[in-house]
Amino acid sequence: MSNPKFAWCDGIVPWEDATCHVSSLAFKYGAAVFEGIRAYWDGSNLCIWQLNEHLARLEKGQRFMRFETPFSADHVADAIKQTLNANEFRANVHITATAFLSGPGQPFLCDPASLAITAMARGDFATDGLRVQVSSWRRASDAAQPQRIKSNGNYLNGRLAAVQARVDGYDTALMLGQDGKVSEGPAMCFFMVRNGVVITPDQQSDILESITRDTMITLLREAGHTVQERKVDRSELAMADEAFFCGTAWEVAPIHSIDGLAMPAGSPGPITQTLRSQFDALTQGTDTSHPEWRTYL
Ligand SMILES: Cc1ncc(COP(=O)(O)O)c(C=O)c1O
Repeated sequence: MSNPKFAWCDGIVPWEDATCHVSSLAFKYGAAVFEGIRAYWDGSNLCIWQLNEHLARLEKGQRFMRFETPFSADHVADAIKQTLNANEFRANVHITATAFLSGPGQPFLCDPASLAITAMARGDFATDGLRVQVSSWRRASDAAQPQRIKSNGNYLNGRLAAVQARVDGYDTALMLGQDGKVSEGPAMCFFMVRNGVVITPDQQSDILESITRDTMITLLREAGHTVQERKVDRSELAMADEAFFCGTAWEVAPIHSIDGLAMPAGSPGPITQTLRSQFDALTQGTDTSHPEWRTYL
């Protein structure tokens, strides 16, 4: 697949010129926060999915990182729209918006910051079932790194788990927290269904403050399901009837098996399948409910 023509690096630039210096705090220390965002092409319009939620999280992330000159939500929204327009996409797109410390110096510096936007045409990660490994890598504790924000430095942790899962012949990983309770996957949140009740690790399980997780909970409750946000034991994984991951990149991704134990209700299980179809209809705009989640270009 060829690269897009343009990216944003404090302004529209040719794709090749969207670079970051090797002496920058972002490069050396991971001093950056980012958003992965989707835009869906409905045949005539490009619709940015849950833009406001992503802008709000990016603002919180910059605040947490103590950037002296954070980028406002309006500024980031404008940069994203300009990048999409410049590339004239006619397909589903994956966007990243990264606020990063672009200067050299000591790790405690909080200035200067730059904003980078990339947008690339990308299909979905459609799968009928992920073979998942419970990782021997534990999710880093919130007391060690701020897991609820999307800071680049956090991503080594999930990457190690994902690489290990692939090396061991699985599709991806599910990580436990330091307390041995289920946390999340690399870049996706975990849900399981047991006896008709939907269960997901709570926010205190060292997980990202995920936008798609909130969306799943909203849709499931609207459909009349009971959703429990709570600590999940590792042994409960073997009791699940069905399970899925979710996230901006992964959308709703059914889980086939965990550590080789297949989901008894199949993959996708019935609740997962209904949720996935509903989510697809919402993102493609064939279901027009929740207009607050759509920003048309
Ligand atoms: C570590 C991590 N957890 C969960 C998720 C899912 O979050 P969201 O639904 O906001 O994309 C992501 C995705 O970006 C992630 O990076």
